[in-house]
Formats: sequence, C-alpha cells, structure tokens
Amino acid sequence: LAHLARLRGGDVIEVAAAPGKSIEPSDVERALRANADVQLVAVVDGETSTGVRQPLAEIGRAVDETDALLLVDCVTSLGGSPVEPQLFRGDYCYSCSQKCLGAPPGLAPVVISERAWERITHRQAGWFTFDFQLLEDYWRGRPPRYHHTPPALMLYAFEEALRQVLDEGLEVRWERHNEAGRHLQAGLEAYGLSILADEAIRLPQLTAVIVPEGIDARHVQQRIRREHAIEIGGALDPTAPPVWRIGLMGVNATVAVAQRVLDAFGDVCELA
Ligand SMILES: Cc1ncc(COP(=O)(O)O)c(C=O)c1O
Repeated sequence: LAHLARLRGGDVIEVAAAPGKSIEPSDVERALRANADVQLVAVVDGETSTGVRQPLAEIGRAVDETDALLLVDCVTSLGGSPVEPQLFRGDYCYSCSQKCLGAPPGLAPVVISERAWERITHRQAGWFTFDFQLLEDYWRGRPPRYHHTPPALMLYAFEEALRQVLDEGLEVRWERHNEAGRHLQAGLEAYGLSILADEAIRLPQLTAVIVPEGIDARHVQQRIRREHAIEIGGALDPTAPPVWRIGLMGVNATVAVAQRVLDAFGDVCELA
C-alpha cells in the first residue's frame, strides 16, 4: 500500500509493526497527531504475508477523530471472517473475488462511505479508470453512461459465488474458515512448528509458519507440490523471518483439507 501510494505521488508516513504483531492503534494516533494534514490512512485487514488480523475498530476510532479517510484492504478477509465497514468506519474498502468468496479472480468489490463520496464529488479525478464520478454514472445512473465494457462472464461467476455464500450463510461460512484454520494451526504446533502471528490476532484463512532453522523452505514447498499436489506460498516480505504461507479459503476451508495439508507436511518433513 505504501508503495502504491508513493507511485501516485503520495507523501507516505509508515506506521510499522514487527512481523507477526499487529499495529498499535496508539502509534496510529501518535502519527495522526504529529501530522495533522494526513488525508488517508490505509491498512490491510487480513495480512496475507504474516497471517495477522489488524485491530480495525481501534484504528478506525483514531482516524474518525481527524479529517483523514480510512482505506481498508479486505482482500483476504471478505467471505472468511466478518468485514463490517460501518463498525470500523471504513471509507474505502475493497476486496477480491478469488479468495474466501471462491469466485474466479478478476473483480474487486468495493464499499465507499458517504464521507468519501462527499470528498470525491469535490475533487478533480486524476485518472479515468478510478474516476468514481464517471463510475457512479455507469454503475448507478439510469440510464447508465458508458465507462467501460464489463467482464460479463466474470459477473455471472461472481453472482453465482455470492449466491453460494448466501445459501451457506455468512456466519456458517466464517465458522467453517475458523474451524479449518484452527485445525491446521493446532496440528502444525503439535508437530513442533511455530506460527508467526500471535495467537490472539491470527487469521484462520492464512497461516504463516516459521521455517525451522536448517530446513530448505523451497525444497519442502516443491516436494509438497509434486508429491501431494498442494501449493504452499513462501515469504513475501524479505524483512520477515522465512515462512511458509498456507491459505485455506473458499471451498478449501475445511477440516478435511487442513488435515491433508498436515499429512503432506508430516510426510515431507518427516514429522511425527
Ligand atoms: C492482502 C492482499 N491485498 C491485495 C492483494 C492483491 O490482490 P489481487 O492479486 O487480486 O490484485 C492480495 C493478493 O493476494 C492480498 O493478499
């Protein structure tokens, strides 16, 4: 997010946390107090790189006391755990279609608050693709004003995925992701492996496992892929300790799949 903001000419103040820890809301408050002209606070709800869930309610409260808007990346969380922009006071929240919603990749559902719309209507958009006033005319204007050709097949697939989410029920789906993630994490710890994220802030749908010293992480990933047909991610953040990243999302968020992953790890790493 910091990189993207800099690419758009933003002057970025980073509020960091150690890998596996969540951001301290008091650090956000301090940064906002020291920089009264901050326009936007951007945070990732569910960190795919570390398996951490950030304290959005507290961060949202800190931002709400200022003129800044809050942008939240809900890419990994939506469909797998509760995402409630009205509670954490999110102004721009976006997600994806391909993770816990289980649709093909290619769409990004967004939520934009009244406060953000107000800001949008008083500014000159810098680029066509994200000119929300034009998009508003296209998405909600009747008759609509052309902006782009929609990926119609993606929309059909997405609608079907959402129908399945509603058929299952959101709470049931969240609980399914929760159970699968907890099963995986308990099993990995029973093998003697350590999870990067502190227990209280762990995401169920993404588990980052610390690679034990002396183990070739990539070799393990390759063997698990070749011998068990399971794809496991490696570290994304070069400053973090080496990790394996395991996603249990959408149809894969079941105890049975979690157990398959555990069995594969047990086999390849010769764990008891
Ligand atoms: C937290 C998070 N944000 C953003 C992205 C980017 O999403 P996409 O690949 O759909 O552009 C990812 C991708 O995995 C992600 O995990």
